[in-house]
Amino acid sequence: MVSYNDVLASNALIGDATPLHVAVFVGGTSGIGKFTIKALVTTGISIKIYLIGRKTAEERTRSFINEMRSLNPKAVIIWTEAEVSLLADVKRACNLIQTTESRVDLLFLSAGYAPWGTRRETPEGHEVVQALEYYSRMLFILHLLPLLAQSDLARVVSVLGGGMEIAYFLDMDDWDLKKPGNFKFYRARPQYIAMNTITMDKLAKDHPNITFIHSFPGAVNTGNVRRGWDRGSVMGWAFIHLVEFVNRLIGFSDDESGQRHLFQSTSASFGGRGVPWMGNEGITRAGTSAVGLLLVNNKCELTPNAKVVSQLCERGQEKLWDHTQKVLGPYL
Ligand SMILES: NC(=O)c1ccc[n+]([C@@H]2O[C@H](COP(=O)([O-])OP(=O)(O)OC[C@H]3O[C@@H](n4cnc5c(N)ncnc54)[C@H](OP(=O)(O)O)[C@@H]3O)[C@@H](O)[C@H]2O)c1
Repeated sequence: MVSYNDVLASNALIGDATPLHVAVFVGGTSGIGKFTIKALVTTGISIKIYLIGRKTAEERTRSFINEMRSLNPKAVIIWTEAEVSLLADVKRACNLIQTTESRVDLLFLSAGYAPWGTRRETPEGHEVVQALEYYSRMLFILHLLPLLAQSDLARVVSVLGGGMEIAYFLDMDDWDLKKPGNFKFYRARPQYIAMNTITMDKLAKDHPNITFIHSFPGAVNTGNVRRGWDRGSVMGWAFIHLVEFVNRLIGFSDDESGQRHLFQSTSASFGGRGVPWMGNEGITRAGTSAVGLLLVNNKCELTPNAKVVSQLCERGQEKLWDHTQKVLGPYL
């Protein structure tokens, strides 16, 4: 475990010399993304942040942006409206960044929730959570790769379930769980987690100068568990109250979650020319030039889940890449 003190000590070293000047947050209108923005802004560095979110989040996000401005006048947060469950809108948001920026240092992806209820599709025909947690995230990465390649930090962090891949629940013949009866919570969640890992592993291998992290955040009481239930579900009501009670007891505070994700976004122990790692233990790959996706758990340790992930990649990487290209192709 990387201690919270070590995390804070590392984050205290973030300064204008840290190669983090342009960041893109997708999912930063709530929860972990928002806490990470706050931790980043509080460092006092000069930073430009593209905060991408949907129309319904605009008003509350504008007051958050004002609050951030008063914390750090050198932080410029650019509200960028996009319905990120729609791939056409993701493309539009990326084009906007591409025409303005010559480099992106950090791409932080945290939009999504657990798909507890009935299958719902976007107007483009993708299950909503899969669109948010997989297709949209991969499309952001693919569009912004050339800009990330220009950065010395060059980091992509996808917050979902790194290290929690389960081979048994992955359906490689029905990636989108469209076959009748195939869309169930206990299938969809692991399916999207594994799809993130398999594709990001390929991207990490193809782009060794960019650090790819698939992070599992642990329990954080963001209200995320309230999303995704069918209206009036009694089971949902009971589950929400139970999970939120447990989260309050054992979960990370908002601040610690934000600081831990800022650490993952900046520490050189994960690669790139970030903040030199000052801690004594916890990150097994520190100082090596390991190539490939980093699966990082809530304690900021690497959790390779090596046996499962290598099996999944061997069996499914090419197949999933073909499928993903077919889906994302029209939006590239
Ligand atoms: N919190 C936890 O304990 C925990 C544990 C394990 C995994 N995770 C996963 O980690 C990720 C981040 O979690 P979090 O707790 O930070 O989540 P959160 O606070 O609920 O924030 C989720 C983000 O997704 C966006 N979003 C949700 N539904 C959307 C939709 N239909 N269209 C467009 N945007 C939508 C939200 O936008 P709005 O602000 O506009 O609603 C928000 O920016 C999620 O994938 C979550 O499932 C969380």
